[in-house]
Amino acid sequence: MKRMIINGNKKLNGTIRISGAKNSAVAIIPAAILTETEATICNVPEISDIESLEEILKFLDVDVKRATETIVINTKKMKNKVIPAEISNKLRASYYFMGALLAKYKKVEMHFPGGCKIGKRPINLHLEGFKKLGATIEEDGDKYIITADKLIGSNIYLDVASVGATINLMIAATKAEGLTTIENAAREPEIVNVATFLNNMGADITGAGTSIIKIKGVEHLTKGFTEIIPDRIEAGTYTIMGALLGEDLKVSNIIPEHIESLTSKLEAAGANIKIEDDTLTCNQVKKLNAVNIKTYYYPGFATDLQQPFSVFLTQCSGKSKVEETIYENRFMHIEYLNKMGANITTKDRIATINGPTPLKGEDVVATDLRAGAALVIAGLIAEGTTVIEEVEHILRGYEGIIEKLTNVGADIKIEENPCQNE
Ligand code: EPU
Repeated sequence: MKRMIINGNKKLNGTIRISGAKNSAVAIIPAAILTETEATICNVPEISDIESLEEILKFLDVDVKRATETIVINTKKMKNKVIPAEISNKLRASYYFMGALLAKYKKVEMHFPGGCKIGKRPINLHLEGFKKLGATIEEDGDKYIITADKLIGSNIYLDVASVGATINLMIAATKAEGLTTIENAAREPEIVNVATFLNNMGADITGAGTSIIKIKGVEHLTKGFTEIIPDRIEAGTYTIMGALLGEDLKVSNIIPEHIESLTSKLEAAGANIKIEDDTLTCNQVKKLNAVNIKTYYYPGFATDLQQPFSVFLTQCSGKSKVEETIYENRFMHIEYLNKMGANITTKDRIATINGPTPLKGEDVVATDLRAGAALVIAGLIAEGTTVIEEVEHILRGYEGIIEKLTNVGADIKIEENPCQNE
């Protein structure tokens, strides 16, 4: 296991360029197996979740060529096989192979996916949707055997506007006979990115980005090309750092409207953020004021930014409330923030933050990806040295985090944990 060491309270100055979106790339790569020939995907972030997907592709005998941020996938020799649980357990997004293999072969055997332990995270909506498309599902322990003689277009209403279910069902319906309508679909920008890619390969999808998506089934998907959109969660994380420590810190290659729910809250708290085209500039201010947030589906406040934003709120004057409505267990960072000097109490899904409180360096643990990002922010603003254990969680989602932060003046490094290697 690796750990991160941060010597805090250094100003951040310069430019951080945002990479391709993890949650787009992890869906587009499995969707790419629908090509009968070759698909090229650009702006793919170099993070460990992508390495896990490449491992799955290679296991399925897909030819994968990677040159820095471009992946070329050729499916000519591909075979449908049961993906071993040790690989699919490494990440949540392995579940997109359910929809993709079902569409391509009408049969898929797969285990329950992995991912951060931030709540129950069931996949019932994915499975119910596959059934609506004509599939039958057998459960064998944590393995699902999903088969269909043929997939037939259907009307699917999602009880919850789930990102994962929306994308998985959109992928599965691409080759179903007739029209599929997904109602109460999630509207996250990543869904538009996946739909545009599928359409580029020959699919017929309209309405992605709205709550009603229509998919007319097609027989063949051919050569494809796409570019992954900038990662709005990575952009948000660095923007929060800039609001706290920036001296003209620029966050570039962003789509500002994708992080408006964050920037409007930062501005309401008094932060100094200037947005121009695809870049924003942040400057630290003397006084910040408490604000409340409630996580919600896009375009609401992203749950993935809730943990990083709670660190910002520890520096605001007054009482802030954070309500997490999407996941039952996304407050695991709070114990560590309190250890560092924050004053936060939680009750059910609401955290109350009393600020401002100076933070001091401590030994902490990244329990999940965004908890880890929150602790990096806390370490950067803290006085003294912070040691974050289990940084593997952070490396699943933040490309080149050490290099990006070092380049703008942070004192941060990753090393093997000597105690755990004994
Ligand atoms: N849900 C169900 N049934 C389902 C699916 C979801 O009840 O079949 C519920 C979940 O329990 C949760 C809510 O719906 O309460 C949202 O789940 P969703 O399916 O939207 O989440 P996900 O697809 O598992 C993706 C991202 C998450 C991000 C959420 C919400 C990927 C691989 N993951 O998860 O990203 O938090 O959407 O925006 O795209 C992260 O990047 O740190 C992360 C956790």
